[in-house]
Parts: sequence; structure tokens; C-alpha cells
Amino acid sequence: MKTTISQVSKHLEETVTIGAWLSNKRSSGKIAFLQLRDGTGFMQGVVVKNDVSDETFQRAKNLTQETSMYVTGKIVEDTRSPFGYEMQVSDIQVIHEAVDYPITPKAHGTEFLMDHRHLWLRSKKQHAIMKVRNEIIRATYQFFNDNGFVKVDPPILTGSSAEGTTELFHTKYFDEEAYLSQSGQLYMEAAAMALGKVFSFGPTFRAEKSKTRRHLIEFWMIEPEMAFVEHEESLEIQENYVNYVVQSVLENCKLELGVLERDTSELEKVKAPFPRITYDDAIKLLKEKGFDDIEWGEDFGAPHETAIAESFDKPVFITNYPTEIKAFYMQPHPNRPEVVLCADLIAPEGYGEIIGGSERINDLELMKERYEQHGLTGEAYKWYLELSQYGSVPHSGFGLGLERTVAWISGVDHVRETIPFPRLLNRLYP
Ligand code: 4AD
Ligand code: MG
Repeated sequence: MKTTISQVSKHLEETVTIGAWLSNKRSSGKIAFLQLRDGTGFMQGVVVKNDVSDETFQRAKNLTQETSMYVTGKIVEDTRSPFGYEMQVSDIQVIHEAVDYPITPKAHGTEFLMDHRHLWLRSKKQHAIMKVRNEIIRATYQFFNDNGFVKVDPPILTGSSAEGTTELFHTKYFDEEAYLSQSGQLYMEAAAMALGKVFSFGPTFRAEKSKTRRHLIEFWMIEPEMAFVEHEESLEIQENYVNYVVQSVLENCKLELGVLERDTSELEKVKAPFPRITYDDAIKLLKEKGFDDIEWGEDFGAPHETAIAESFDKPVFITNYPTEIKAFYMQPHPNRPEVVLCADLIAPEGYGEIIGGSERINDLELMKERYEQHGLTGEAYKWYLELSQYGSVPHSGFGLGLERTVAWISGVDHVRETIPFPRLLNRLYP
């Protein structure tokens, strides 16, 4: 009977066949230990010389790394491995012999591995990260569906910019100029006025010349947008969402977190509500921590975010940033127009900002004023202004960066390992 590694617990003491690759091997004169992988998981196969034909034992001993095969044997418990099962191999049918697989069990440099990303994905750690990523995606759909949100897909090709004009990828759209989307937000605001609570989940692009462990050129963003929801209520939805995602990964990715050697006690603490600190207080806190140079009105960099996060053992919201340093669409604070009703959510352990969000301006005159200040004129924004013209309501939304969230929850220190094929400043291959 054919099965997969993920299903072997249902076949204890049965003989099954699995389509697999050889990820590693150890053998002596009498026994061979095959590290098998089939996409669904990793498992050891044991081939004992006295229990199989000479031909099968020779075949096992000669198997090269990444050779594909159908392997048949009895599934037994293996209390020594975290996986809990192994196969007592009785037969091996080689499908394709892999010769000189470039990624050997020895350590390789990062650039070498990045050049072989199409193969590197097969390794145990990368497999675990992709499974965590998938669980975050699954939990995201579950959370928003369970809470009455409708999934809406904004366009990727756009005629206007959502987050400022300096980081746009330009492209030709027949005779017009077009851009790759930096954020679907403006379209999601239109969708919220049609469907109430909506979320998008798609690729976004930033032509940013940043070479840090937190920046990708192409990344995936989850962007909820909610009509009749003000700033404070939006923060509650954000913390409940992040809480749900973290608890789902803890529950459903135990093996993967083990492979990644993630300290799960840090993740167990991530329960809503999350602490909030105003930008004003964050500046004070930074000064106390020795950042003497930081002045009110400046944006925070990675070291600032890390220092603020260190004071809390959960993600922390930094609220009410200066109007000057935030996007044009943010609603001013009712008593203090120099700050806006916004928050960035900073992950613990130095992983930085994972969410940016705000209440949106819903007053047409104020929106027009902001437009002028930001030089956003022309036809491309006409539709967006019309949203404030016909039945405008308070509304809020936010964007969560998937890869930074995967990095944090998995405990990997660079976002390049959190997306199958990363696009970085100097990398478009493979
Ligand atoms: O803070 P950002 O730029 O916010 C927006 O784009 C809003 N329009 C979202 C909204 O309100 N609908 O980006 C949101 C999040 C960041 O907190 C970060 O997690 C992620 O997107 N992000 C990046 N992730 C990887 N590489 C980059 N270059 C990123 N830029 C932003
Ligand atoms: Mg931001």
C-alpha cells in the first residue's frame, strides 16, 4: 500500500511503500540507515543485511544523496527520534539516481546556498520554515473567515502609489506608466466601503535599496481594512489575529519548531492583549536606554525598535507617531494634530516591525489638503478621493508582513529564508 511519511502513524506494523528521496545515509557492513524525505516529512529507513536480498542491501549501500525511489517496508515505533517512527526496509526501487548533488551535509556558505535555492528548499531546516509559513497562511485565512472578513484581491499593476513614490517599480503599461503595487491598501479601502470587513493577501513590491535582514524587494502582505472601525478597535483585532497565528503554529508545527530549535517558551507568552506605548514615551524610553541622539520627530530604525521591544515580553504597539513621518492617509489625533492615530506592532526578540496600521482620514477636505502637501495630484488618485465623497465613514486597517512574521515565529534571523525564492537587492536568481 502506498502512503506518505506524514501518514505512517496510521500504518504501525504494516508494510507500506513510500515515494522518497535520500537526504542522507550511514552504513556499515551489516546495516544501512537511510534518511528519507518525501515532501511531507523526514523519516529513517533501516536496511539490515540479513533481512533483505543481497541485491537490495547493495542497492541501499550505493544510494547517493537525492536519489529518488520507491521504498517498501514495515513501519515501527522509534522512540529515539522526535518523529517517533521508522521503516524496516524490505525493498528499494530506484526511480532516478542523483549524481553529485551540490548541497552536501557539510556546511556551505550563504551565497552558495542562495545560488542553489531551488535545491536548498529540500533541506530539513528550509522544509520546516516553509511548513511554518504555510501554517501562518492557513491560520490567517481561518482567523479572517471566522471573524466575518471577505477576501478581496487588489490589483498588482497600478497607476498610483500607496506608500510614497520613491520605492516604486516602474513598468510600461502599453502607452501609460504603471507601477507594481507597494500595498493594496487604497483599493482595500474602496472594498471595505462595499463589503464592510475585508482582507487581502498578496505580493507587494518595494524598490528599496535596503540590504538588511528584514527587507525583501518582493514580499507578501496581509491587509485587512474595516469600515466603522476606529483605531482602538483595530488594535484589538490586530492583537487577536497575531495571538491566533502564534498559538496555531505552536499547536500545529511542533515538529518543525523542534527542527528549528525554536525556544517556544518565548512564543507561549504571546497572548493578547499586547502592551501599547506612545511614540512620545518610546522616545523617553530610548533616551533612558542611552540613545541620546534621538529627537522627537525622527523615525525609528532597527536598533531603536529592538531596544523598545526588549522592555516587553510580548509584541508591543508603538502608537501615535508624528504626522510628518507617516503616510498621507492617516487620521490625525483629535486633540493633537501633530500625531496620527496609528500603530506599528514590534515583534519581540529583535525581529522588528511586523505590522503597520492606522485609522484612515475620512474627511474630504482634510484628504484634499494632505494630497496637496504630498504632491499627489492627477487623475490616478481621483477615484480614491471619491471614497471620501460618498458616504464616508470612520475606517481603519493594517498590513502584516508575512516574511517578517515567519522569521520571528520560526526564530530565523534573516527574511531571505522565509520565502521560497527571495528577491533581494542583488538577487533575482534563481
Ligand atoms: O508599514 P508598511 O509599509 O505599511 C503599508 O504598506 C500599509 N499600506 C499597510 C496597511 O495599512 N494596509 O508595511 C506593512 C508591513 C510592515 O510592518 C512589514 O512587516 C512589512 O509590511 N514590510 C516588509 N517586509 C519585508 N520587506 C520589506 N521591504 C517590507 N516593507 C514592509
Ligand atoms: Mg511601516
